Amino acid sequence: MTRDWNFDEEVDRSQTASMKWEPEVLSRVFGDGRDTLLPLWVADMDFNCHPAIRKAMEKRLAHQIYGYSLKDPAYLPSLISWYRRRHQWEIQVPWVLTTPGVVPAVNYIIQRFSQPGDKVLIQTPVYYPFARSILNNGRQVADNPLKIEDVHFRMDFNDLAEKVKDPRVKLAILCSPHNPVGRVWTREELDTFGRICIDNQVLVIADEIHCDLVMPGFKHLCFAAISEAFAHHSITCLAASKTFNLAGLHQSSIIVPDPVLRRELHAQLENLGFGNADGGTLFGAVAAAAAYNEAEPWLEDLILYLHANFTYLKTFLETELPGVFVYELQGTYLAWVDFNGLGLAEQDRIRLLEEQAGVGLDHGAWFGDNGKGFERFNIACPRSILARAAEAIVTAFK
Ligand SMILES: Cc1ncc(COP(=O)(O)O)c(C=O)c1O
Repeated sequence: MTRDWNFDEEVDRSQTASMKWEPEVLSRVFGDGRDTLLPLWVADMDFNCHPAIRKAMEKRLAHQIYGYSLKDPAYLPSLISWYRRRHQWEIQVPWVLTTPGVVPAVNYIIQRFSQPGDKVLIQTPVYYPFARSILNNGRQVADNPLKIEDVHFRMDFNDLAEKVKDPRVKLAILCSPHNPVGRVWTREELDTFGRICIDNQVLVIADEIHCDLVMPGFKHLCFAAISEAFAHHSITCLAASKTFNLAGLHQSSIIVPDPVLRRELHAQLENLGFGNADGGTLFGAVAAAAAYNEAEPWLEDLILYLHANFTYLKTFLETELPGVFVYELQGTYLAWVDFNGLGLAEQDRIRLLEEQAGVGLDHGAWFGDNGKGFERFNIACPRSILARAAEAIVTAFK
């Protein structure tokens, strides 16, 4: 088949209300005068999606009535087939609930399965909407910080075992693969994490939104597919949105193998006003089905492109800026870069990045105190854009 995509193409995203590129958002997030930063922050990709996705949406669009709709009939079979062939996980149709995003799902789960004042465990530095969701719902964060050993981030199981002894810890969010540190957790790590949580009656929220974005040589394991016990003590959040660049379509699949947990979450979705507990969208389901059914070759090429982007960034930054260290990217398209070796104060580094280099990155401190001195680079863009950003940074820091 013809490979009808070109990841080198720079697509103009101005005038599309892109959160990542919109000047108004950039100045709100990074500060006045910073509305022209080259944005390598929000986790979406500057690549056109697979043509089959657009075709499927155009076909549905042509009908001109967009009334209340059931899930597109192709959606569930496509999802199930994808997880069977890509992840060897046999998802059953009744297990799947839909929400308008993974972050909304995390909020609904927190609301239903904990009480105000309870604690939810996270592993910092981690995707910051987790802490925000916990705190916004009047719960407390129980932090089980990751540790660095042999230049790899690892879970601290001794600390985890201590933290979950607190009976107020009701939920633990597993970020797998981990954003921002880029780890793809091994079977042993997932086994130990799961056992400690289950032994302490802590329900696991497995956020596996990045599960398809895994670099060559690594293999993602779905937490719930590891054992029956894990399946019955977890809720897994999945979506085609990261994998295929569809985040604006607001469709995620929440997998709840346990019937009691499922009834509870279903009730929560109904309480929130999702008719028939379907919190997905008409076009989100159409696009996801086309993606799962037809876009696999695009994804295979994408992963190689991202891997080459990462290799370029690591080599360039570490060569040109001695003291900077780029952690191995095992999964996600987010590179986690340690600038601590340069010995700069937080504000001085940020000023050089934004005022001198003109680049907008997710600052490490957003992900937790232990992220200070780090920056997260979204490398899902044409190489030319990544190189422009990296070269500007090197010039600024030299
Ligand atoms: C770990 C993780 N979970 C969830 C999301 C966002 O999910 P959604 O857009 O479906 O709310 C992201 C986006 O970057 C993410 O990295």
